[in-house]
Amino acid sequence: MDDKQLIEELRRQLHRHNRNYYVLNAPVISDQEYDALMRQLQQLELLHPELYDPNSPTQRVGSDLGGEFRQVVHKRPMLSLANTYNKGEVGEFYRRVEEGLQGQEFQICCEMKFDGLSISLHYEDGRLVRAVTRGDGVQGDDVTDNVRTIRSIPLILPEGSGFPREFEMRGEVLMPWESFERLNAEREAREEPLFANPRNAASGTLKSKNSAVVAQRGLDAYLYYLLGDDIPCDSHFANLQRAREWGFKVSGEMRLVRSLQEIFDYIDYWDEARKALPVATDGIVLKVDSLSQQRSLGLTAKSPRWAIAYKFQAEQQETILRNVTFQVGRTGAVTPVAIMDPVQLSGTMVHRATLNNEDFISALDLHIGDLVQVIKGGEIIPKIVGVNTDARGSGLGERVSFITHCPECGTPLVRFEGEAAHYCPNDTACPPQIKGRIEHFISRKAMDIESLGPETVNEYYQMGIIHDVADLYDIRVEQIAGMNSTRMKSAMKIVQGIAQSREVPFERVLYALGIRFVGEIAAKALARYFKSIDALAAAKAGDLLQVNGIGEVIAQSVVGWLAKEENQQLISRLRAAGVRFELSEEELSSHSDKLQGQTVVISGVFARHSRDEYKALIERHGGKNVGSISGKTSFVLAGENMGPSKREKALKLGVRLVTEDEFLAMIE
Ligand code: IVH
Repeated sequence: MDDKQLIEELRRQLHRHNRNYYVLNAPVISDQEYDALMRQLQQLELLHPELYDPNSPTQRVGSDLGGEFRQVVHKRPMLSLANTYNKGEVGEFYRRVEEGLQGQEFQICCEMKFDGLSISLHYEDGRLVRAVTRGDGVQGDDVTDNVRTIRSIPLILPEGSGFPREFEMRGEVLMPWESFERLNAEREAREEPLFANPRNAASGTLKSKNSAVVAQRGLDAYLYYLLGDDIPCDSHFANLQRAREWGFKVSGEMRLVRSLQEIFDYIDYWDEARKALPVATDGIVLKVDSLSQQRSLGLTAKSPRWAIAYKFQAEQQETILRNVTFQVGRTGAVTPVAIMDPVQLSGTMVHRATLNNEDFISALDLHIGDLVQVIKGGEIIPKIVGVNTDARGSGLGERVSFITHCPECGTPLVRFEGEAAHYCPNDTACPPQIKGRIEHFISRKAMDIESLGPETVNEYYQMGIIHDVADLYDIRVEQIAGMNSTRMKSAMKIVQGIAQSREVPFERVLYALGIRFVGEIAAKALARYFKSIDALAAAKAGDLLQVNGIGEVIAQSVVGWLAKEENQQLISRLRAAGVRFELSEEELSSHSDKLQGQTVVISGVFARHSRDEYKALIERHGGKNVGSISGKTSFVLAGENMGPSKREKALKLGVRLVTEDEFLAMIE
């Protein structure tokens, strides 16, 4: 065998091993053997520059010689898909197909919608000749050098596997979660900006001018669309199975179905199961399987009539930042709020999101007009998590900066040592702080004055009827009846609701006062320990630290708050109005340690008490209420209609289920 033949043989072998490893996940030789073959080929190629081949396996490592990308006009325009978030519209799509095909039988190919960037790969005589990004659909960037480094994209197809002489393969370039996390960890260590999601990371990588960088980033590609003048079958599905034999990575999750119900089943299944896939997906693509039926259905201006994308409710979206406003909360903390073009996020339209604080804004280097990434996460308020700097054009908008004065009362803002937030220090006269404190006071977990709401509070504040929470107890029916929104009947209800709040237990009153850092749990712990506001007021910060769960910050805040003259006056006025500032006899006597050290999960619905009441009972008897079942759970307080997954988990972990009656007997 001469060197030329040897080079060709080594290239063939390496292409095959490469495919076994990256496409089929089934290597047949060890990494060392693979490396040895590769080294041998590299040395031979060095000796024979005349045998250079851009598709040689040695070229997968890339180089930094890339210049600007050449713009290439697509041979066939790259259309996009019609999108929907709603199954009703999937049904409409199905009926349009039925109608369009006039009674012919048809099948739908269901597949994953991969969340990366689309790529068009051109093959001639079994060799990759060009790879082009989607661009605007008419023309895109020639990224062939970069694509050559993606190991799961075949450069040379196995001879005799039956591929057409000339064809185009389209698919999605992706960064698998694993590569994405590794890349971000490395960037974090180097203090470089992180990628917000795998799609941005894939897109940033594929457009890198240095293909050696691309080679290291672990991109992957799934192919989902075969085009050409002589492709093997009339079935899209069958074509892709053939393409798999040619060495392309084709998703194993594709299914052919014959009914709308099967489509819905596929959607429902993958909505959950996709979370275990190694790459990001954002929906399901439905395609009429027969190519001749596709042709007869045709295209609209932007997308084919034979396909639709059903998108899962996104947990993250990109949208344009239009403005930033500043909101003052009840504690005086100033929160920057992004105003954005509305986007659909986890099922609702969102156009405002929090930007946390000044440091957060500077870290993002945020500008008006930026394409920002928003998530809905666990909280109700959406958050901005990143900026798509790739999308920035030449006309960068105004840089977002933090304000220096309160937008509500004009007082210069302060920022305390070691804290991220800015505060308006004018707590006695800044309107949103006053209103915020009253709103907090009446809220459900505090005094629970249901008959009042934020609008009424605002109205009474504007009218000069209330300036602080103690004023609530002076409101008389005749004073508010006949006002804008308050008729006689609701006036009576409001006054009655306020009167009833006198029964609210001390621990919730303490929470209702809105002392900074004193949440429900801290208030409860303090109330239980000190038993009255007088005892609490007499305590020093050091005494507070004795209470379980109370640290330096809370202790200082409480002591500081109680030391203020105006707060002491507020307490005396509330006390004079009949609000409780000590534990009741009943509370003092109804405590026990029967559940001491026990961890209890509440699940289902109950007949004798509400869930909140059961929570309180558990705590009053020394137990701890937690949300999810684990090996440490002592028992589950199980009501009717307990969720099947919780039941199963309890069973699996051998955690006891206790009925409502059994529980009441336990603490009797
Ligand atoms: S088919 C004419 N199939 O979604 C149909 N596209 O909005 C061409 N995508 O630009 C696309 N997974 O980047 C198709 N299984 C899949 C897909 C898929 C992801 C992307 C693709 C396209 C966009 C359409």
